[in-house]
Amino acid sequence: MTGDITMESENYMTARAYCLTAAFWFAVATSFGILAASYLVAPDFMANIAFLEFGRIRPIHVNLVLFGFVTPGLLGAAHYLVPRLMQTRLYSQKLGLITVLLWNVAVAAGMIGLSLGHTTGREYAELIWPVKILIVIGFGLIGANLFLTIRQRKEPILYVSVWYVCAAVVMTGVTYFIGNVVWEPETGALLGISDAVLLWFYGHNIFGLLLTPLSLAVAYYVIPKVTRNPLYSHTLSILGFWGLLVVYTHIGTHHLLQVPVPTWLKVIAIVDSVAMVIPVMVFLINIWYTARGKLGEIHADIAGKFIFTGTIMYFFVSIQGSMMALPNVQRITHFTNWVIGHSHIGVLGFAGMISLGGMYYVLPRITDKPLYSRFLADLQYWLILIGVVGFTIVLTAAGLIQGNAWLNGETIYRVLPEIHVYYVIRLAIGVFIVIGAYIGLYNVIRTLYWNPGAES
Ligand code: HEM
Ligand code: HEM
Repeated sequence: MTGDITMESENYMTARAYCLTAAFWFAVATSFGILAASYLVAPDFMANIAFLEFGRIRPIHVNLVLFGFVTPGLLGAAHYLVPRLMQTRLYSQKLGLITVLLWNVAVAAGMIGLSLGHTTGREYAELIWPVKILIVIGFGLIGANLFLTIRQRKEPILYVSVWYVCAAVVMTGVTYFIGNVVWEPETGALLGISDAVLLWFYGHNIFGLLLTPLSLAVAYYVIPKVTRNPLYSHTLSILGFWGLLVVYTHIGTHHLLQVPVPTWLKVIAIVDSVAMVIPVMVFLINIWYTARGKLGEIHADIAGKFIFTGTIMYFFVSIQGSMMALPNVQRITHFTNWVIGHSHIGVLGFAGMISLGGMYYVLPRITDKPLYSRFLADLQYWLILIGVVGFTIVLTAAGLIQGNAWLNGETIYRVLPEIHVYYVIRLAIGVFIVIGAYIGLYNVIRTLYWNPGAES
C-alpha cells in the first residue's frame, strides 16, 4: 500500500513543523486551562488583571486546544500519511511550511486579540476578522497542497484515510467561512435566532467535520500498521465515511434544545444525534476487529496505545453525546459541568489522544531515528489518561449536582459552595495534564533537534 519511498527527513519538513506546533500550543493551552480552573476555585486570585479574566482566558484555552494543538497534530500525521498512501511526495514542502507559519501567526494573533478583549463573543468563532481570513486561507492552502499531491499519485486506490483527510479540509474550510459569517466583518454574526442556528451548525462541525474525520483517518492508517493486520473491511470503512458525512452535518441544533428554535429543527438534530450510533459503531467495529488478537502489539507501540485509547474514548463520548441529545436527559445536564466533562472526553480523550498518537507514529519515521524517549512518551500517556478519566468523574458528579439543583429550581449561588470541592479536585487533576503536555513538548523537541539515538 505504501510502496518503497526514500525517507530523507527533508521530505517531511511540513509534518515536522506541524508536530512542533501542536506540542508547543498543547503546553500553552493547558497552562491557560490551569489558569481558568484556578479562577473557578478562587475568583479573587486574579481579580483586576484584565487579560487574565475568566471571560478572556476561557476562549484562549478552548481555541488553543482546538486550533493550536489537536488540529495541527492531526494535520502533521495527515501530511505524512497522504503522500505515503499515494506513493508520492507532498506536492510542495515550501507551500506546506508557509501554511504552518501562517497558521501559527493566525493562532498567536487570535490569542493576543482575545487577551486584549477583542472577541465576537460567539463560541468557537470568537476570533477577530483578520485572523478568520488567515484561517480560511490556511485551509485553502492545505487543501491545495494535499489535492495536488493526490493528483500526482502513483497509487490508483484512494484508501479511506485519504477520503477522511480531504473531507475534513474541504468541509471545514467551507463551514468555517459560513459559520464565522466572514462577509460581515463588523459583527461576524447574523441577526437573532438564525445566528444561533448557524453558529451551532458550524460549532459542532468543528468536532464532527474537522477533529473526528482527521482522527479517524489517523486511526485507520496507524492501527493496521501497528498490528500488521489488514483492515477488517473496506466496505465498512466507506459506509462509515458516508454515514458520518450524512448524519453529522444535521446535529448542531442539539446545542439549542433549551432555545426557541423551530421544533422540526430540534427533532432532526435529536434523531440524527441518536443515529450517530451507526457511523460511530461501524468505525469502531471495523477498527477493533482489525486489532483483534493484537492487543499486545498495540500495548508495545506508544502510537498504537494512544490511538487505541482514543478509539475507546470515542465510544464513550459518542454514546454519552447521543444520550445528552435526548430532551429529558439534557433538561438536567445542560448548562452544567457534565457538558464540560463531555468536551474533555471528546477533544482531549478522543481527538487529542489520537493527535498525540499520530505525532508519535510519524516522528520516528520523519526523523529516521527512534523517539528521543519512549519512557517520557509513556509517562505522558499515563498522566493524560489519569487526567481525562479524573476530569470525567469529577465534572460528571459536579454536573449532576448542578443539574438536580436546576431541576429543583434552586438559585445558582446556593449550588456553587456544593461544587467547590469538585473544582479544587479538577484543578489538581489538571496539573497531571499540564505536566504531561510539557513533557511531550520536551520529548518532541529532543526528537526533532537533539536526539542522540535510541534511549528508552
Ligand atoms: C455521536 C456523537 C456525539 C453526539 C451525539 C454529541 C452530542 C452533544 C450534545 C447534545 C452536546 C450539547 C450538550 C448541551 O449543551 O447540553 C454536545 C456538546 C459538546 N460536544 Fe458532543 N457529541 C458527540 C461527539 C462529540 C465528539 C466526538 C466531540 C469531540 C471531538 C464532542 C465535543 C463536544 C463539545 C466540545 C461540546 C460542548 C460544546 C459547548 O457547549 O461549548 N462531541 N455534544
Ligand atoms: C490542564 C488541563 C486542563 C484544565 C485544567 C482545563 C480546564 C478547563 C476549564 C476550566 C474550562 C472552562 C469550563 C467552564 O466554562 O466551566 C475548560 C473548557 C474546555 N477545555 Fe479544558 N482544561 C484542560 C485541558 C484541556 C485539553 C488538553 C483540552 C483538549 C485537548 C481541553 C478542551 C476544552 C474544551 C473543548 C473546553 C470547552 C468546553 C465547553 O465549552 O463545553 N481542555 N477547560
